[in-house]
Amino acid sequence: METVWLREDAVHFGNLILVNGRHPYWIGKSRGNLVSVNVWDRNALLDRYVVKLLSELMGELDGWKEIAAVSGWRSLREQQELYAESLRENGEEFTRQYVALPNHSEHQTGLAVDLGVRQGEIDFIRPEFPYSGVCQRFRERAARFGFVERYPKGKEEVTGIAHEPWHFRYVGTPHAEIMAEHGMVLEEYIDFLRPYVYGRGCYSYQTGNLDIKVSYLEAEKTGETRLEIDGDAAYSISGNNVDGFIITMWKVRAER
Ligand code: DAL
Ligand code: ZN
Repeated sequence: METVWLREDAVHFGNLILVNGRHPYWIGKSRGNLVSVNVWDRNALLDRYVVKLLSELMGELDGWKEIAAVSGWRSLREQQELYAESLRENGEEFTRQYVALPNHSEHQTGLAVDLGVRQGEIDFIRPEFPYSGVCQRFRERAARFGFVERYPKGKEEVTGIAHEPWHFRYVGTPHAEIMAEHGMVLEEYIDFLRPYVYGRGCYSYQTGNLDIKVSYLEAEKTGETRLEIDGDAAYSISGNNVDGFIITMWKVRAER
């Protein structure tokens, strides 16, 4: 057994943080390790490891020829300016649907990217990203690389944001695949995991030669949270930005 102590603020870190109208991005967090998504769209920045996975996926599709990275990481200030500008130009109803309130945008995390068809005029708030051609091929492969279409049609009430075919969020694997298989958005996935309390139960998932177990650990109300890890499993931990942690453990399946 290995004992891990999770700091109180660790709830706000990790690939599975839920950032939406009800759960702000934690401002104490530093910018992370941001790099340009590609050489053509230098202003679009994402966390380094997210860029790596996006590049692998785009490489497989030869995607950057036809797809542009329209918007990646945004500072709080950029989100404030975007919100204010959209209010002026597009009005309140449109803005509430398509631009997250400052400090409530996934773009502040470095884990979210807007993609659009590479063309002369690209709409910054609502780029074109159709359900056909290379854009659709991207969408179909996205989960395998840890990305989800974050604001799908039909989930507007849950996400608080209108249908945005262009906005992709990195949550990592196997989470993106589980969410895609069940048709869950991140709000639903965080709730879905709650009954699988760490130490008492887990959601089991198999992919390739890996046996994966996902569970939820409630954070202590104050102070550090103690986590006991079974010695021989590989694991990762993410805060959910609400009230606890998602623990992902995996083992290579033994050959029969
Ligand atoms: N367009 C998304 C909701 C954002 O502004 O973060
Ligand atoms: Zn977006």
